[in-house]
Amino acid sequence: MTTVRSVLLASAGVVLLALLLAGCGPERATATPAVDASVHQEFSLTHDELADLVSVTPAPTRSRVAEDPGGFLSLVRDVLAAPAELIVLVDKNNPLPATYAPDDLVPLSEFAGRIGYAVGEREISRIIAADLIDMAAAARREGVELIVQSAYRSYEYQAQLFTAYAARHGEVAASMFSARPGRSQHQLGTAVDFAPIAREFADMPAGRWLAEHAWRFGFSLSYPEGYEEVTGYIYEPWHFRYVGRAAARLEREFFAGVQQHMLEFLHARGDLLRDAATARIGNGA
Ligand code: DAL
Ligand code: ZN
Repeated sequence: MTTVRSVLLASAGVVLLALLLAGCGPERATATPAVDASVHQEFSLTHDELADLVSVTPAPTRSRVAEDPGGFLSLVRDVLAAPAELIVLVDKNNPLPATYAPDDLVPLSEFAGRIGYAVGEREISRIIAADLIDMAAAARREGVELIVQSAYRSYEYQAQLFTAYAARHGEVAASMFSARPGRSQHQLGTAVDFAPIAREFADMPAGRWLAEHAWRFGFSLSYPEGYEEVTGYIYEPWHFRYVGRAAARLEREFFAGVQQHMLEFLHARGDLLRDAATARIGNGA
């Protein structure tokens, strides 16, 4: 027999069942849902903290990060996992020690037939070899030959170069296209000048091909056109630095293809980002 009591009990049962099916018990239905405030599983960072970290970047980067914070941090994670020397900031204000030289230098002649070069004794850091070979092969398949003109340069060699240019053009003019010793990316062994070293390179098949495809192989144009005040150097369409595939993507997707802006950001915030990643691992996440 149906009684008021049995109807109430039946209704309570339906409500309870609905709550259970919804995955929450009656006592949790009114509790604040457990929201993970982290932007990314592998970083201990809230949205506000991330916004603060990227506050040092140009406005377009800040907007892009706000649109896709997870994608940004995934790329940052991959960049931080790669060897640190790939993203070390070397510019007019951030010199390398005179004694710095990569410990994995290898002559280009070792890659004869796979990497085109003008001078076989020139050396590169072995860390760039595989992607440089892949890039040269990809270009060749499209009928474009990449020729390396200059690669690793020691502190002493860069000093000789700069002195010679300064004697010929004056120090101020020379410093717009040649780095003073310690300030050249070539000392890292990861920067490459492709031939010919000339403004016209931008409009030649190799220059055009590199401008479009180099990023896919981890190479980045260091001194783009229109950024002389940012980089400190005139447009050098032939000078590419290997930053690794993740960093090249990060630069392209979040820094509008401006290497200097990305490297300055990583220089300023790399330690905080590493700490945030470590804290996350420490939390067992
Ligand atoms: N030409 C570039 C700036 C260098 O000397 O490293
Ligand atoms: Zn160069």
